[in-house]
Amino acid sequence: MWTESEIDAYIRKHLKEGRYLHTLRVVKASGELASLHGLDVRKARLAAFLHDCQKFRRESDLREYLSSHPEGRRDSNRPAEVLHGFAAAVFSETEAGISDPEVLDAIRWHTTGAAGMCDLAKVVFLADMIEEDRDFKGIEALRKLSGKDLDSAMLFGLDLSLSYLIRSGKYIDPDTLHARNHFLVLVRDRMEK
Ligand SMILES: [Fe+2]
Ligand SMILES: [Fe+2]
Repeated sequence: MWTESEIDAYIRKHLKEGRYLHTLRVVKASGELASLHGLDVRKARLAAFLHDCQKFRRESDLREYLSSHPEGRRDSNRPAEVLHGFAAAVFSETEAGISDPEVLDAIRWHTTGAAGMCDLAKVVFLADMIEEDRDFKGIEALRKLSGKDLDSAMLFGLDLSLSYLIRSGKYIDPDTLHARNHFLVLVRDRMEK
């Protein structure tokens, strides 16, 4: 399995500087969130290091890369914006030697979210949205919520993502809708108890 420094060397070589620096901020935010929620900090950092590692590929390359791997084939027709997460999960497993299913899930679902995603995946999804350089309406509320309650933060974060996707006329991956409804029911049920 690749060490953090091997992954660092790979992404520094392949990603543009801005994307590389974003990755380092997501690593930091993931480690902090994992620690706040009593999760494995090392696993959170590892997933964050790899989450955007295939972002340098063009859309056609990503589709080809996914189609050429049995474990990625079913995801090769997803919307352009989310392909890099699925490609990164395949790369992490086949090239970087990551076998931990939680780390792979966190990488795979970092853009779409998914119903039933594990807590580590919630941490990386949220860290990607709230890393210190991000700035959008609602970010301070999302940062606060992320530190307190991962499921409520996921619901709020997915609502923000969906509004953005609709406003900008982008295709919505079905898993993002499933994830949003999943967290809506989860948070509502909890409030009613
Ligand atoms: Fe990403
Ligand atoms: Fe990212």
